[in-house]
Amino acid sequence: MKLCMIGTGYVGLVSGTCFADIGNQVICVDKDLNKIKKLNMGISPIYEPGLNELIKKNFLAKRLSFTTDIKKAIELSNIIFICVGTPTQKGSLNVDLSFVYKCTKEILKYTRNKKIIVTKSTVPIGTGDQIDKLVKKKRKLFTVISNPEFLREGEAIRDFRYPDRIVIGSNEKKVFNVMKKLYSPLINKGAKFFTTSRKSAELIKYASNAFLATKITFINELANLCEKSGIEVEDISLGIGSDNRIGSRFLRAGPAYGGSCFPKDTKGLVSAADKYKVNLSVVKSVIKSNNERVNLLTQRIHKILGTNLKNKKISFLGVTFKPNTDDMRDSTSLRMIPYLSKKGVKINYYDPSGKKEEFKNVKNCFFKPNIKKNCFNVDLVILLTEWDEFKTIDFKKIVRNNKFKVYDLRNLYSAKDMKKKKIKYYSVGRPNFK
Ligand SMILES: NC(=O)c1ccc[n+]([C@@H]2O[C@H](COP(=O)([O-])OP(=O)(O)OC[C@H]3O[C@@H](n4cnc5c(N)ncnc54)[C@H](O)[C@@H]3O)[C@@H](O)[C@H]2O)c1
Repeated sequence: MKLCMIGTGYVGLVSGTCFADIGNQVICVDKDLNKIKKLNMGISPIYEPGLNELIKKNFLAKRLSFTTDIKKAIELSNIIFICVGTPTQKGSLNVDLSFVYKCTKEILKYTRNKKIIVTKSTVPIGTGDQIDKLVKKKRKLFTVISNPEFLREGEAIRDFRYPDRIVIGSNEKKVFNVMKKLYSPLINKGAKFFTTSRKSAELIKYASNAFLATKITFINELANLCEKSGIEVEDISLGIGSDNRIGSRFLRAGPAYGGSCFPKDTKGLVSAADKYKVNLSVVKSVIKSNNERVNLLTQRIHKILGTNLKNKKISFLGVTFKPNTDDMRDSTSLRMIPYLSKKGVKINYYDPSGKKEEFKNVKNCFFKPNIKKNCFNVDLVILLTEWDEFKTIDFKKIVRNNKFKVYDLRNLYSAKDMKKKKIKYYSVGRPNFK
């Protein structure tokens, strides 16, 4: 099939590349000329394991191409995927749909024959209806469907190839067969193909993310209780997660949830419900609790190093919101590091995905090229992101002072081992913050 992906970010680029890899002709469009230039040189503009190789393979096979020319891309395709960002509007909980509507207008402008428009972007209930109204007012050439994306950054290729389910929402049943054919290589490998109304598909995506965010927040709050009551949160996660009705995933205590989806989608769901005059009090309290968690974990640095942090040296291991991605959106580090900088702390950070623009203007904040240089002679090491290469660090050997401490926000290390090595160690959901 001939596909066009509008928006070549984490979703558009990964799904476009994977669609090409299962035999489709795919054109990825982006308005960002730099991204397209890089892609045409065979370089992925994002960090996603395995993606570079897959782009090269499909680019050379001439199944995958990249352009800023949206007119040409639309003319050459039968199915157009909208994969642009849907961030939170500044100063509110509402979803900013301006990117979605802008590309809808472009699709309308350049379409001369029948097309299927698919929203892969996460959009609030009724957005498909709005797009439908917009395009059909002008020409009856379009079918508008919702096909929310569930891939996770860091595991995106695997998630695309082996999804738990493929959700297609449409009010026109005949289009289900076209989408079934497109996804048949994945369905044949066991992916569940689920068809529903367009609005349901839109809500399924928000509800999934809000539910997962709730699980994380729930275990994070229990972690606070564990610390006060002398219990190990890992035992609680295991004990409750072994119940099949609950499930063990997303029950690891740690920092506040971040990333490009959970924070904005919980807010987007609340704001959509508010429009229907429905009070989603559970999701509202999840948002509040998650926000408070960043403050709580930041304030603990004072408990570890004292009230006055001026001239203290702190190194961060990892700054992205999770490992195997370069995505910094809503990462805890974006609030923790500027706070420490204002307190006069000298901050080093190392992240395997590289230096971050976000800290360019933060005073006394330095990117270091490796773990050793990052941790040398600091007062405190903060493990924020559990990249594989952080699992086996010999802290005594690399920090090289006898008073340093380790604050592990992911419980990556064993408290027992740290005690044996005589390292002052703090983690979450274990009895070390009373
Ligand atoms: N990132 C994830 O893990 C993930 C997972 C599932 C769903 N989603 C959803 O998918 C959507 C996209 O997310 P993302 O993380 O890929 O976003 P992103 O910010 O990484 O990429 C969006 C891209 O769209 C481009 N763009 C914007 N307007 C355009 C236009 N008019 N024409 C051409 N290009 C345009 C931008 O330049 C950018 O490269 C969002 O709605 C998000 O909620 C994201």
